[in-house]
Amino acid sequence: MTEVEIIKKRVAGLREQINYHNHRYHVLDSPEISDAEYDALLVELRKLEEAHPELITPDSPTQRVGAEPVSAFGIVVHPRPLLSLANAFSDEDIDAWYKRITGLVPGQDFDFVCELKIDGLAVALTYDNRSLVTGATRGNGYQGENITQNLRTVKSIPLSVPSTAPARFEVRGEAYLPRKGLVRLNEERAAEGQPLFANPRNAAAGSVRQLDPRITARRPLDIFIYALGWSEGIQAPPTHWETMQYLRSLGFKINPNMTRCKNLDEVKACCHGWAERREELPYDIDGLVIKVNSIALQEELGFVGHDPRWAIAYKFPAVQGTTRLLDIGINVGRTGSLNPYAILEPVNIGGVTIERAALHNEDDIHRKDIRIGDWVLVQRAGEVIPEIVGPVVSRRTGGEKVFHMPAACPVCHAEVIRGEGEAMHRCANTACPAQALESIIHFASKGAMDIDGVGEKLCRSLFEKGLIKDSGDLYSLTHDSLLGMERMGEKSAANVLASLEKSKDRPLARLIFAVGIPNIGEETASILVQHYNSIGALSKAGREELMGIPSIGPKVSDGILAFFRQPQNTDIIDKLSKAGVNMQSAETVRRDLPFSGREFVITGKLAASGRQELEVKIRALGGKAGSDVTKKTGYLVVGADPGAKLARAQALGIKILNENEFLQMVKEAEDRLK
Ligand code: IVH
Repeated sequence: MTEVEIIKKRVAGLREQINYHNHRYHVLDSPEISDAEYDALLVELRKLEEAHPELITPDSPTQRVGAEPVSAFGIVVHPRPLLSLANAFSDEDIDAWYKRITGLVPGQDFDFVCELKIDGLAVALTYDNRSLVTGATRGNGYQGENITQNLRTVKSIPLSVPSTAPARFEVRGEAYLPRKGLVRLNEERAAEGQPLFANPRNAAAGSVRQLDPRITARRPLDIFIYALGWSEGIQAPPTHWETMQYLRSLGFKINPNMTRCKNLDEVKACCHGWAERREELPYDIDGLVIKVNSIALQEELGFVGHDPRWAIAYKFPAVQGTTRLLDIGINVGRTGSLNPYAILEPVNIGGVTIERAALHNEDDIHRKDIRIGDWVLVQRAGEVIPEIVGPVVSRRTGGEKVFHMPAACPVCHAEVIRGEGEAMHRCANTACPAQALESIIHFASKGAMDIDGVGEKLCRSLFEKGLIKDSGDLYSLTHDSLLGMERMGEKSAANVLASLEKSKDRPLARLIFAVGIPNIGEETASILVQHYNSIGALSKAGREELMGIPSIGPKVSDGILAFFRQPQNTDIIDKLSKAGVNMQSAETVRRDLPFSGREFVITGKLAASGRQELEVKIRALGGKAGSDVTKKTGYLVVGADPGAKLARAQALGIKILNENEFLQMVKEAEDRLK
């Protein structure tokens, strides 16, 4: 592989991993890695993309600012985008940031404002002619949801402002739920048998995004304003500090814990101080925001990507606590993986009661030497599902038990196996009800077929009642069968049927991801679609052929082959196809192109054209541009000073073309297409 190909492969791999973990975290609520590990993946991807900007694609996870707006609310286009902030996790990161910005505007005097980073939801409020006209979420940064009616119920948001306010302006701030409010809300929800909110941020987001503003009104939401987004008709104050005082004078709620800092030492002292005292606050913060005070300097420093250079978020280190590990439970996932989790004696860590923690696999449990009955150190990094750092060995009594994965699946009692080189134990029974149910939940979930209204709960009830056995059965649900479900009225049933209908048109890549082929994430699914224009075509692909696709390795290839060998899987696909679910793609590389099925390798220096340019042409004509000469190579294109590839090609009897012959061949092929 050439260096570029290695990098491309890594980039694709990182994107797939990030998307996968993102989905586990945000959609499935079941992360497998810590925040820090997730951040490390993102940092590596960002670095590679910075070094190779030609590899950046609009759907790269680095290009995401926030969640996509949901159309149930109207869409609001932000006149100036709402951006995110780069993170600093240590004093060294703050130093590096300072060095970067002072280097960009040398000889300038800097002062800073340190503010609390409130853990809530970013909102933008627009005022026109002294009245609140629009309240919106950040959404993807450029467009958000119109939640005006909901924000109007937040008592600390002024509905009108005095005549000293600009004619038209927008303020930005963080809507949040005080800790007590969250406890109260969760108590109510527990009493009603509703699922609890994991943290104040989710609760705030859930509250402002209620379709019924009366529900929002009952939630004890509050807001702190932290910026003037834009304004018309006034001379805006010259510093951030003065802007905040001005906004306070207009009636906005500004956090009182703002500090003006003359230098970096004061900034750091402020950050460390709050890391110690954060529990004293009645609301959650996840760090501080350090901002350059002068607005002129802010403008001069500008942005890089989605982040302003003039501000940085200092994130607190994780919060830890100790408690007892009462037992280890096991969850069976959709691929049959046995996922162990810790059952803890409830403990309050950073204001949140922790009762469960992720344990990744048996090896990990043994590596950390965690035993049932141990006192363990539990860590909560931000809003992540807590992790067990390790046992408190000094508190052992001798009665602790070493954990072993069960030999039989806890759900169907079939044999438990562990593949060579795999960390996970799996239930060997592909018909295991746990797998079947998890597969259905995955199929309907957001990143997959995105069937609105068909969430985990409904899938579970339908499955338990025997109305569905696999995802293919979802499309045979009827109005009557749905009406038999708990809390399902005429209207909800009609909505579910409409969502199912809508999901039939999802792109092929979504379907490939949704059916749950082992080791295939969203990214790999989109790569496959570029080569196969239907599920049928994919099901017929051979191992060699699959392995020939850049960024597809043996794990994915074997996963695909194994998937289509199982009759249960092909039955599901048949059901989906009969129901009219889209099985085709228009994006696919055509198989009837002049270079289809032919692989070219280029070696040596070319005189007339760039190598990359030629590789693009080869692909556009349906061919494959390889890097190494193998038996699969059809042609070797030789430029000046060819290397060892020429000798290898000659030994293998591969056809050799010089640059002109090759260009002639390309031209003829292009002419044939016209
Ligand atoms: S300033 C362009 N100040 O943190 C910079 N943000 O990624 C805009 N946040 O979702 C952000 N407290 O909603 C700023 N005092 C504060 C903040 C704050 C919380 C949130 C913000 C955004 C995230 C930054």
